[in-house]
Amino acid sequence: MGKIVIAIDGYSGCGKSSTAKAVAKDLGYTYIDSGAMYRAATLYFLENYLNPANPRDVTKGLKNLEITFHPNPDTQKQETYLNGLNVENEIRSMRVSEKVSELAKVKEIRSELVAQQQRLGKKKGVVMDGRDIGSVVFPEAELKVFMTADLETRAYRRQQELLEKGDLVDLDQIQKNLAERDRIDSSRTESPLKKMEDAVEIDTSHISFEAQVAQIVHLAQQKIETQKDYAGNHR
Ligand code: CDP
Repeated sequence: MGKIVIAIDGYSGCGKSSTAKAVAKDLGYTYIDSGAMYRAATLYFLENYLNPANPRDVTKGLKNLEITFHPNPDTQKQETYLNGLNVENEIRSMRVSEKVSELAKVKEIRSELVAQQQRLGKKKGVVMDGRDIGSVVFPEAELKVFMTADLETRAYRRQQELLEKGDLVDLDQIQKNLAERDRIDSSRTESPLKKMEDAVEIDTSHISFEAQVAQIVHLAQQKIETQKDYAGNHR
């Protein structure tokens, strides 16, 4: 009783995943990284020389694509598996970042991944981040957040993240990639990224990570309370 769905959408690299993860931990909810699914699909297409713009390749690719999440036994953090193999690090590489938005434009691929995401969120008590979570995957989500941050801040943060994994990438290359993905994600026909009217916008350019997590947890608790009141009054 009282569990809700939290949808966090926004531009590339504005900290949705780390924020969503921390919010889920605070609330004891499950975190689902929908972007990791598009990234894993991209890796599969790249490794098998499949072209997402070719419908026959799409059919072939979707037939053999199994994406799952399992906790790392040491860190307890959810990691992404592609056909049984851990691909958590590989899917964050620039090789994948450079191709993912082209694949994410394809209707058949989106339908398949959205169906999987909806199954994962059926029991509520989930925080999911992406581009179309509040609009398409969970239009009935009790709490919708739209995160933004200026491009320079996002590029710098992403560079630090990659560096922590031992990957030194030029700031300019990251900035160009983020801007290009924003452009493709916002202008595509299928489920374009846009702020929903009922979403709370949070600009994270000038607030600390802890503050943005606390703000979302607070909003979630208010929604959970409202649900309890509603249930109590209708008993
Ligand atoms: O973490 P970052 O902001 O770099 O991106 P991500 O959440 O891992 O998503 C990677 C790409 O997947 C995005 O640029 C979109 O093209 C696509 N995506 C999408 O189309 N719909 C989603 N729900 C999530 C990601």
